[in-house]
Amino acid sequence: MTNQRDLVESLAGEGLLPAEWRDAVASVDRALFIPEVFEGGDFHADPEAWIQAIYRDAPIITQINDGKSTPEGEFRLSTSSSSMPSVMLEMLTLLKVHDGHTVLEVGTGTGYNAAWLAHRLGEHRVFSVELDPTLAATARKNLKYAGFFPTVIVGNGHDGYPGGAPYNRIICTCTMRKIPRAWLEQCPNGRIVTPWGSSFFSGSYVSLSVVDGEAQGTFSGYPCFMWDRTQRAGAARISDLYHGETGQQGATEIPPQNVIQDDPAFFISLNVTDAWYQWCEADDGSEEATLWFFADDGKSWATVEYVPNADTYEVEQFGPRALWDEVRAAFLKWHDLGKPQRTRFGLTADPSGHRVWLDDPHNVIG
Ligand SMILES: C[S@@+](CC[C@H](N)C(=O)[O-])C[C@H]1O[C@@H](n2cnc3c(N)ncnc32)[C@H](O)[C@@H]1O
Repeated sequence: MTNQRDLVESLAGEGLLPAEWRDAVASVDRALFIPEVFEGGDFHADPEAWIQAIYRDAPIITQINDGKSTPEGEFRLSTSSSSMPSVMLEMLTLLKVHDGHTVLEVGTGTGYNAAWLAHRLGEHRVFSVELDPTLAATARKNLKYAGFFPTVIVGNGHDGYPGGAPYNRIICTCTMRKIPRAWLEQCPNGRIVTPWGSSFFSGSYVSLSVVDGEAQGTFSGYPCFMWDRTQRAGAARISDLYHGETGQQGATEIPPQNVIQDDPAFFISLNVTDAWYQWCEADDGSEEATLWFFADDGKSWATVEYVPNADTYEVEQFGPRALWDEVRAAFLKWHDLGKPQRTRFGLTADPSGHRVWLDDPHNVIG
């Protein structure tokens, strides 16, 4: 993979390049949107590896820890990227963009997606909001070198950008917990697509049709986007959060891995919105594992110990919240509902708030 044509051919070969986006992808060189140094790549140290990396269908992490200098050995949170090209195309397909549309993008990053949109729609129809002023300035520069001048705004994507409204489409490239009211006002009749979720599970797109300011749609996909910076989930290394405290002991008959499968994890995430988990396998070949849960505020944790072929699993819970009890209750509620798949759920968002429903917008469950 050494040039844009290779990227185009590999996407097309995998059936991942919709005809309506082919021209844009073929015409806009990804190299113009990638910094010389990114997480795991350095043009000056190894130009060949740099080139191989950028023309692969893979994300490129372009910023960690909000651009703050991070000493060796410290936790590195990815905070901006050039998204995986096939994922960008998947989102644009969900967005159902038509020629002549005016589009607002939230999360400009390096500007690559804004360039595709500007190529297809014309730069005067493309508006992109980025929270980080340094990233926005770099994106403007990248776009200029590529020959595009869409409007790039520094701001919080929650506010949208009234200056370009009304929009036919809003695409958000960071994970949201809620659909901001401003989006419904600025795209009152159209379509909104965003990665959506809570700290427990954020691997869904929600694709919403908006009619007269009421948005309704369903969940799909397996996106892995960085968080909306203003509403991040907790994230850290276990060693940074656990300091040898002893919690309340207990046991459960639920095999811990059952609660983190996609469908139950999605449902649990509707009820336990501000906690996250990590599955840690023992490295001694025993196939044992610990499922850790942490509250976003770092004050509570829980563990469930998985041992192959066991009938019950040890539980430990520490802090003001009994996190395993919360997860278990939501998991059992999901069982009571007949273990529905994630794709059966939908979301309605209007000025009065958010409602998640199962199968039918009237069957509100959260
Ligand atoms: C995955 S990157 C964007 C990828 C980009 N659209 C592309 O073309 O490759 C997500 C971006 O969202 C930005 N972001 C996060 N929270 C935001 C917010 N509340 N408002 C605007 N931008 C935000 C981040 O700074 C980051 O640059």
